Amino acid sequence: MVEYLGEWLAEYELGVEDIDLQHHFFFNLINRLARELATTKDIQYKIDLVNELTVYAKFHFMSEENMMRKNKYPQFMHHKFQHMELIDSISRVSNQFFLTEDDPKGDNIINFLREWFLNHTEKVDREFADYLKKNLSVG
Ligand SMILES: [Fe+2]
Repeated sequence: MVEYLGEWLAEYELGVEDIDLQHHFFFNLINRLARELATTKDIQYKIDLVNELTVYAKFHFMSEENMMRKNKYPQFMHHKFQHMELIDSISRVSNQFFLTEDDPKGDNIINFLREWFLNHTEKVDREFADYLKKNLSVG
């Protein structure tokens, strides 16, 4: 069984509990999607798994954005824009997956999600978490 993102590592944690819990869950979802896309032939199930991940991404982004609003985060619009771009990209990459036969195991979707997750959490989410820890409360 391929674990595309491997194990969750302490270095992914940003030190803000709600964000870390959601990131860990999102990380698990990407691993599950990777396993299932590579092994199942049920198209509707694959579509529903991609939908599950997309719905969770939207929930998680809304959660982060609400924390940003509450704490008057100066980079709010820039960060929100990155979230919007990800939602657009997931639908583009997954449409390509479902409409063509080029990528039967979904490697493009998973590679895209892995790169995005690791880059986004390590850079823009870390900046936000550092801001939160320095400035105000999360709750
Ligand atoms: Fe984010």
